[in-house]
Amino acid sequence: MTGSGTTLDDYTDRYAQRVRGMTASEIRALFAVASRPEVVSLAGGAPYVSALPLDAVGEMLGRLAIDHGATSLQYGIGQGTLALRERICEVMALSGIGGELGASPEDVVVTVGGQQAIDLLARLFLDPGDVVLAEGPTYVGALGAFQAAQARVVHVTMDDDGLVPEALEAAIAAVAAAGHRAKFLYTIPTYQNPTGVTLTEPRRERVLDICERAGLLVVEDDPYGQLGFEGEAPAPLRARRRDGVFYLSTFSKTFAPGFRVGWVLAPHAVREKLVIASEAQILCPSAFAQAAVTAYLSSMPWREQLKTYREIYRDRRDALLDALAAQMPEGTRWTRPGGGLFVWATLPGGLDAKAMVPRALGARVAYVPGTGFYANGAGTANLRLNFSFSAPDRIREGVRRLAGVVEQELAMRSVFGELPASASRDAPASLLDVAETGVPPTGSEEA
Ligand SMILES: Cc1ncc(COP(=O)(O)O)c(C=O)c1O
Repeated sequence: MTGSGTTLDDYTDRYAQRVRGMTASEIRALFAVASRPEVVSLAGGAPYVSALPLDAVGEMLGRLAIDHGATSLQYGIGQGTLALRERICEVMALSGIGGELGASPEDVVVTVGGQQAIDLLARLFLDPGDVVLAEGPTYVGALGAFQAAQARVVHVTMDDDGLVPEALEAAIAAVAAAGHRAKFLYTIPTYQNPTGVTLTEPRRERVLDICERAGLLVVEDDPYGQLGFEGEAPAPLRARRRDGVFYLSTFSKTFAPGFRVGWVLAPHAVREKLVIASEAQILCPSAFAQAAVTAYLSSMPWREQLKTYREIYRDRRDALLDALAAQMPEGTRWTRPGGGLFVWATLPGGLDAKAMVPRALGARVAYVPGTGFYANGAGTANLRLNFSFSAPDRIREGVRRLAGVVEQELAMRSVFGELPASASRDAPASLLDVAETGVPPTGSEEA
C-alpha cells in the first residue's frame, strides 16, 4: 500500500463483493457546485425547514435536555419508544391507515429516516441475485440500498397515472421466465420521487391484486402522502391490505430531515426480525431525536405546520409549472404533480440531460439528470426539478436560465447534427438485460 494523498484506491482487492458496484453518486459532485449562492438549485430534495417555527422548536429541544435529559440523552430500545410509536399510529391514521386495517404500535419499528427502513427490508428479504421490481424511474437512495444487497432492479413503466399494471404483470412474467425470483415491488405510489406522479385509485387495487396473485411482497414508501396540494391523496396501499404490505414513511418531509426519524409498519410476524436487524446496525434509534419528534407531535401544532408546508410548496410548484410553460422550448414535456417536491421533465430533440449539466452550471442553474433514477442507464433525456427549496422568484429565474441552455443545445444540434447514440440509449434486448447492465448509484447524499 502506498501512503496517503493518492486518489487511487489501494484497498480495491480487499473489499467485500457487495462493494464492487458501489460508485459515488453522480449527483454528489453536482450538489457541491449547486449549493453555491450564485447557482439557482432545482436539484436536491430538501424541504423548506425555514418555514418551521424555529424559536419554538429550539425552546422545545432545550426543555428536552433540561427537563428530561436523563432519558432523552440515554440509550433506548431497538424498536423505538412506545410514546413515539403511538404518535406514529396517529399520523398514519391521518393518511387513512385506520379502522380494521389500522396500525398497532406493536408493529411499528422506528428507523433512522426512511432510508434505514428501505435498507432493513433489503437486508431481510434480498439475497444476491434476487430481483426487485420498482417504478422506472425511482428513488435513488432505494437503488443504492438494493445494489448494496446485490439485488437487481427491474423497472416497471409508469405513465401519468403511476405504475402501469400491465407492465407490472409483464415484468413479473419476464423475471419468472428468465428463472429469477422477484422478491418485492418497491413503490412510491403518492407524489413519487422523482416524477411527482400519483398512482390512481383504480390502479391501486389492481397493483395489489397482481402482487397478491404473484406472491410478491409490496414495499410502499410514502414520505410525501401528506404533502398534497389538491385535496386528499388516494389512501395508501397499506390502508387496503395488511398482509404482504410493508409501509415506510419518515418525518423528514413533514417535520425536518435533521432528526433522521422514520419508520416501518410491518406485518406482525416480521416486526421482530426488523428489530433484530436494526439493532445489529444501530443498537437503537436516537433517543433524543425520538423525544424531539414525540414532543413536536404532542405539544406543537403539527397539522397546521403540514398545512403551511403544503401552501408554500403549492405556490412554488405553480411558479415552476407556469415558468416551464412560458419559457421552455417546444417539445419539452413535464409532469404536473398534485403534491410532493418534484417535477420530472423530458427534453426535446434527443438532448442528453447529463451531458448538459456543465453548460447548465455555467449558466448558474442546477438540476438532477434523470439517469441517476434508473438502474439501467435509461433517463438520458430526463431531469428532475425540485420546487420545495427555492422561493418562487428564484424558481422562475432558474427556469429562465435552464430554457436558455436548452435552446442553445437545440441550436447546436441543428448546426452540428445528431450526436452518436450512446450505449445507454440503445434499447435493451430484454427486461433482465436492463437489470443486469444497470449500475445503480449509492446516492446516500441524495434526498
Ligand atoms: C421516496 C423516498 N424514500 C425515502 C427517502 C429517505 O428519507 P429520509 O430522509 O427520511 O431517510 C426519501 C428522501 O428523499 C425519498 O424521497
